Parts: sequence; structure tokens; C-alpha cells
Amino acid sequence: MELPEVDSTNSFAHALLSKSKPADGTVISTFCQTAGRGQVGSHWESEPGKNISLSAILYPDFLEAKKQFQLNQCISLAVFDLVKNCLPERRVSIKWPNDIYVGSRKIAGILIQNALINTQIRSTVAGIGININQATFLSNLPNPTSLLLETGQEHPLHNLVPQLCEHLEARYLQLKAEKIVPLRHDYLRHLYRSGQLANYQRSSGEAFQGTILGIDEIGRLKMEIGSEIECFDLKEIRFI
Ligand code: BTN
Repeated sequence: MELPEVDSTNSFAHALLSKSKPADGTVISTFCQTAGRGQVGSHWESEPGKNISLSAILYPDFLEAKKQFQLNQCISLAVFDLVKNCLPERRVSIKWPNDIYVGSRKIAGILIQNALINTQIRSTVAGIGININQATFLSNLPNPTSLLLETGQEHPLHNLVPQLCEHLEARYLQLKAEKIVPLRHDYLRHLYRSGQLANYQRSSGEAFQGTILGIDEIGRLKMEIGSEIECFDLKEIRFI
């Protein structure tokens, strides 16, 4: 369903879920999102008429709650697939856990909200924002870019939404068919800074150098720091 304007497609999806049972795979999209929600309570900036803002409602009841990172891999890869298709010559990567980067700039963000029932996932709202034709950003954090800035050309918003839905469906079917190994493999292959020594900061403020080795079984970032191996949750590490 395409909305002319909405505060947040994620909020709209949650409101739908609270009063009905929308079909699995229902997509709510808009080109004018006025109060987009980002990760950890942040705001998601999107100039009206320039970008894709979309939320998919899914019922991954086949997935145990402790495996929810697999869903994160699946959605991240679908967005990666679309951006890579648009920028075949560029280094597109997935910054753990689910930002899509071109070089060292963020082109897309993902906000996945799961409702759990006991040990299973009852429903998911997977919100995706992709910067398409926006040329300037009010907030310079974290290094925003768009397809327009990367190519110097405008991209047809209306064609990209169905393409994104196709990628989402393909990756979701992969997840449903328990193709966990290729999903994990693709995610790790495209992981930003994987295998490179780089600078990070702990939540305490302490800076350190480390190398991303991969992801552990619950989706934490696995790093080599000196001779030690340490795993980090989202709020425990900052890329600098
Ligand atoms: C992030 O902080 O990186 C996540 C941004 C997620 C933005 C998308 S846009 C569509 C959906 N609706 C929202 O309110 N947020 C997500």
C-alpha cells in the first residue's frame, strides 16, 4: 500500500497490526515520511519526494527468537542487493548490524521491530529507508549519501520500490527454506571492514584498534583485539 504522506511507515504498520492481521508480506511505502524513526530512538531524515521509506509486515513464526539475527541478515541482504544493482561498480557493503554503505558513507538504514511470543517471533515490522534522490542532508551523521550523490543522476523512485520488494521476497524465501548457510555467507562476504584493522570505541569511551572476524551465534560482532577475541552488542561499540 502506497501512502501519499505518513509520519512513519513503521508506526503505521504497528497500528495496522494492533487492529487487524495484515497478510504476510504486506508492504507500506511512502515518498513522504515526516517523522521517520531510526535505530536507538534516533530520527531518520528524508526529504519529501526524494527517497524510499517502506515497512514490510512479516510473520516469521518459523524462526526462534534467539535466531532473530537471521532475519536481520535477510533484510540487510535484500537492501544490499538493490543498492548493489544500482551501483555495480561501487564498493557496497553492510555495516554491522544493518546499515548499507557505499564506500564509507551510509545510503540506507533498517529498523527491524519484532514482537515475540514465548520463544518464537510472532510478527515483524521491517522498516527500510534508502536515500535515492536527496542531494543535501541536514544532519551530517553518519556520513549520508544517496544514489544521486553517487551517480550524479536522478533515479526513478517508482521503479525501485517493486525491485526492492522482489529482493525482499527472494531473500525471505531463502530464510524460510532454511538456506541459512548461503545467507550467512553472503552477509559475511559483504560485511563492512571485515578483516581490516580499524579504529573503534567502547561505550566507556575507550578507543581501540581491532579487526572484525565475523558474527557470533546471537549476532554480536566478533572482533580480534590484540591477541584476544571479544564479542560486542550494538550499544557496546562505535565505529570511528
Ligand atoms: C537507522 O537508524 O539506520 C534506521 C533507519 C530506518 C528508517 C526507516 S524509513 C521506513 C521505516 N519507517 C521508519 O519510521 N523508519 C524506517
